[in-house]
Amino acid sequence: MANEIVFSRNHIDNVKDLDVYVGNGGYSSLQKGLTMAPDELIELVKASGLRGRGGAGFPTGMKWSFVPKDTSKPHYLVCNADESEPGTFKDRQLMEVNPHQLLEGMILACHAIGAKTGFIYIRGEFVGPIQIVSRAIEQAYARGYLGKNIQGTGVDVDLAVHPGAGAYIWGEESALLNSLEGQRGLPRLKPPFPAVSGLYASPTIINNVETLANISHIVNNGADWFKQWGTERSAGTKVVSISGHVNRPGNYEVPLATPMMTLINEFAGGVRDGHKLKAVIPGGSSVPILPAEKCDINYDYESIQAAGSMLGSAGMIVMDETTCMVGVARNLVHFYRHESCGKCTPCREGTDWMFKILNELELTGGQMDDIDLLLDITDNMDGKCFCPLGDTSIMSVVSGIEHWRHEFEEHVRNGGCQQRAQNGH
Ligand SMILES: Cc1cc2nc3c(=O)[nH]c(=O)nc-3n(C[C@H](O)[C@H](O)[C@H](O)COP(=O)(O)O)c2cc1C
Repeated sequence: MANEIVFSRNHIDNVKDLDVYVGNGGYSSLQKGLTMAPDELIELVKASGLRGRGGAGFPTGMKWSFVPKDTSKPHYLVCNADESEPGTFKDRQLMEVNPHQLLEGMILACHAIGAKTGFIYIRGEFVGPIQIVSRAIEQAYARGYLGKNIQGTGVDVDLAVHPGAGAYIWGEESALLNSLEGQRGLPRLKPPFPAVSGLYASPTIINNVETLANISHIVNNGADWFKQWGTERSAGTKVVSISGHVNRPGNYEVPLATPMMTLINEFAGGVRDGHKLKAVIPGGSSVPILPAEKCDINYDYESIQAAGSMLGSAGMIVMDETTCMVGVARNLVHFYRHESCGKCTPCREGTDWMFKILNELELTGGQMDDIDLLLDITDNMDGKCFCPLGDTSIMSVVSGIEHWRHEFEEHVRNGGCQQRAQNGH
């Protein structure tokens, strides 16, 4: 598997143990990276083409360069390990299997942005990863990989785990910062962006687990090594979480630009037996659904965008012909309605209204006008919500109606979902 191409350390037995990690070259990037000037490190990450793996795909080196240099305030690094996007489950495994890889990347990132303190904000339900990463931090302190004067380089870095408490919105970076500060986890108005005014109103970089897990490898092997995979705008490898109607769901690390059908048919073992592909959500629940005929593309940022969706957090949800697309939209909107923080009206009211209509369509059929009403509501939410949670909650509705409008109409004509009736729900 492609896992063997890059992060082979993920596949070393018990690599979460410090001795095993160090025995296989772990923490070797620190001597090199921590003796580089911070700007040099930022330029290296820029040159690698690494884009943030948390969803938005923002170039990591460029983000780091936004931290102001002329401030007396402390700088902070925050690792976003809140991972709650339906369909995405890669960060959990990265932390469970190889926690030191994350810590090593964070130490380097702290040096690059001039931070002496970093927090790992881990989804509260991830009890295992919280314990594993906390233990790894203890081990790293005991061996001098964390704390004062790391490995004699003169660099000081402290890291701490902060458990979340179970809300999807806390993955949104500004809500996460509020939660980390002990306030209600509601999103903040931007600008100012966190790089300028983040945690405790100080310059803060927030990066995803997978983003940070790439850093030590880039420092050890160089920017060109990383760029040997993928394309100009989608460099490196990507861990893709594949779930749904496939024979072998799981996390697969592949070079970006791997054909999407190869991901489904070879890595995930194909659509479950006897069934055929109907649709794919390529990047977590916040991106538009692609019909099967649009799935013959490469899995990279630009190809997926050209096909009408987004790579997002790389949670690929595969659906076969038995899937009711009204049911999919209802299910996903139910999630967003539950997770809406309620701060802004379009999201609070819109997710609730969409759910009520979808529920009627699914259970009793609703009315033909409901379909255009749904589109009208999504139009009043798109780009008008306070944060992207609301903006993206409409994706399954808009793409569902665009590609499978006939299914919505059939629900009205049939007085609800026929499949649901047949299954006795
Ligand atoms: C509702 C919502 C939930 C999010 N959840 C996560 C998450 O669980 N993990 C994550 O890394 N980014 C999440 N993001 C994106 C973050 O706001 C942020 O862009 C990301 O952590 C930046 O890291 P990166 O530059 O390394 O990608 C979420 C965004 C939104 C709007």
